[in-house]
Amino acid sequence: MKGGFIGLKISQVSLVLIGFVCATVLVLAWTKTTFLSSFVQPQDHFLRVPSDRSVKDTNSSDGGSSSSQLGTIANVPKNEREDIRPSIVDSTNSDKVSEEINSKPAENITPPMNTMSTNAHGKDERNKHMTTSKERQGVEEKASEKVSEEKIRLKEAENDISLPISSVSTSSSSKSERKENVTISREKQVCNLAKGKWVEDPKRPLYSGFGCKQWLSPMWACRLTQRTDFEYEFLRWQPRDCRMEAFTGPKFLSRMVNKTLAFVGDSLGRQQFQSLMCMATEGKARSDVLDVGVEYGLVQAPGTKRPDGWAYRFPSTNTTILYYWSASLCGLEPIDPSNPTTDVAMHLDRPPAFLRHFIHKFDVLVLNTGHHWNRGKLNANRWVIYVGGVPNTDRKIANINGAKNFTVYSIVSWVNSQLPKYPRLKAFYRSMSPRHFFNGDWNTGGTCDNTTPLSGGKEVLKEESSDPLAAGATRGKGVKLLDITALSELRDEGHISRYSIKATPGVQDCLHWCLPGVPDAWNEILFAQL
Ligand SMILES: *[C@@H]1O[C@H](CO)[C@@H](O)[C@H](O)[C@H]1NC(C)=O
Ligand SMILES: *[C@@H]1O[C@H](CO)[C@@H](O)[C@H](O)[C@H]1NC(C)=O
Ligand SMILES: *[C@@H]1O[C@H](CO)[C@@H](O)[C@H](O)[C@H]1NC(C)=O
Ligand SMILES: *[C@@H]1O[C@H](CO)[C@@H](O)[C@H](O)[C@H]1NC(C)=O
Ligand SMILES: *[C@@H]1O[C@H](CO)[C@@H](O)[C@H](O)[C@H]1NC(C)=O
Repeated sequence: MKGGFIGLKISQVSLVLIGFVCATVLVLAWTKTTFLSSFVQPQDHFLRVPSDRSVKDTNSSDGGSSSSQLGTIANVPKNEREDIRPSIVDSTNSDKVSEEINSKPAENITPPMNTMSTNAHGKDERNKHMTTSKERQGVEEKASEKVSEEKIRLKEAENDISLPISSVSTSSSSKSERKENVTISREKQVCNLAKGKWVEDPKRPLYSGFGCKQWLSPMWACRLTQRTDFEYEFLRWQPRDCRMEAFTGPKFLSRMVNKTLAFVGDSLGRQQFQSLMCMATEGKARSDVLDVGVEYGLVQAPGTKRPDGWAYRFPSTNTTILYYWSASLCGLEPIDPSNPTTDVAMHLDRPPAFLRHFIHKFDVLVLNTGHHWNRGKLNANRWVIYVGGVPNTDRKIANINGAKNFTVYSIVSWVNSQLPKYPRLKAFYRSMSPRHFFNGDWNTGGTCDNTTPLSGGKEVLKEESSDPLAAGATRGKGVKLLDITALSELRDEGHISRYSIKATPGVQDCLHWCLPGVPDAWNEILFAQL
């Protein structure tokens, strides 16, 4: 009995021990196996309720999410003087953008939060409510509820895609744009304004080349030249995967109440500026519009042909549109200010002083550069390349394309680094405007004689930009790409061509565009993102 009792006890103890060991092994196996643990904790972030932290992450609303990785550029000199002659054409091989970038930079892609301008206003509100209610409910929610809610969210995201991109509210109130980046990246993927086709539209152009005398330079108003074909005026850009809200002057102005839109760039930027002035006024004379150039130091200095830019204000909506001439988007500084023929330091890693001084006043900024990046222009302007405040010694940057690449990345990064400070600012880098010199270049008899629109095709079907430099520099940044290269490439008939005011025999302008014309479409695409 006793021995039996003890025996029983021993066998019981060993049983318990065996059971314990088995349980330990099982638990270990369970926790080490990701397959099993994935049942416990869903890994798919689509199915996860945003924690407080991720809600905060979506907070940095108006762009500039990656400011910390950006260098700051300081010490921009005061007296920036730039060659204000927007010479028509540039010397050879300025545009070999494609050679410039063979390998796309592998950057960390952070979808910019300010692509949210594409959301319907009401929807923003809805999402905000959803987020806050989630915050309250916390993570203890039942899994099934999470799933169904996420399903709703996804469904909404899909709805967003089919919504016209510019079902953007026309209200000018500053939208508080908080939303899941999941939605944004999906939208971005599907709705690319640069993909689409040119269609004939009898309701074009948006203004008359005869009528817009107040803003349009005669040299670009092809209606005032010897040109006799005007088919090119009746084309409208139609994005493929998104409906683009029709531009009207009043709609634009009402969206821009109390706001300032600035173009900073070369003569192609000036064309876009004049185009927008004509679009906003519908080409009609407006005696109420004020010249406010003096507020921005845009006054004509003695002995110069014209000021460095122009600024106009519509008093009815308190909307300011301005343009500043900066062909290189660099900081320029005379090396010896007392010497009138001094060389000029071209600080590739510093923004133009104008931009540094006035960026806080801008609500929309559109940058461009490109056609001045060639040896001829640099030499003619006596520009000497500087990096880090000293003459450049880097051989990669000594090469013109290397210098341009470095500058575009620098300026985009700098503007990006400013976005957190100016959350209302929407910044764009406009891609390269293509040239169409056939059988030569501007100084070797190159021509763009074709007058038949779209003889080389009317559609852009590829997703990626035709300007890899602009695309690379803006990738993952809050500065958005205004991608107009491929769609403009289809418009070789839209240039000034032989009909320039000077009409030098044998010299054609296949760089600048007739207005009304192609730059109007750039502004429509811009408008769709405001
Ligand atoms: C979120 O927004 C608030 C108010 O706009 C701001 O104070 C806060 O710093 C932001 N948080 C983050 C993480 O950006
Ligand atoms: C352009 O500059 C970026 C940033 O410095 C760099 O990552 C990229 O490799 C450069 N591309 C070329 C073609 O030099
Ligand atoms: C959205 O943002 C969160 C945190 O900000 C990030 O972990 C996640 O990968 C992002 N999702 C996408 C699709 O970019
Ligand atoms: C015009 O808008 C600016 C802000 O962009 C504001 O500071 C100014 O007070 C406005 N002026 C009028 C007359 O409303
Ligand atoms: C424009 O600015 C004026 C003056 O600051 C202000 O009274 C008005 O409410 C503003 N309008 C909008 C739509 O922000």
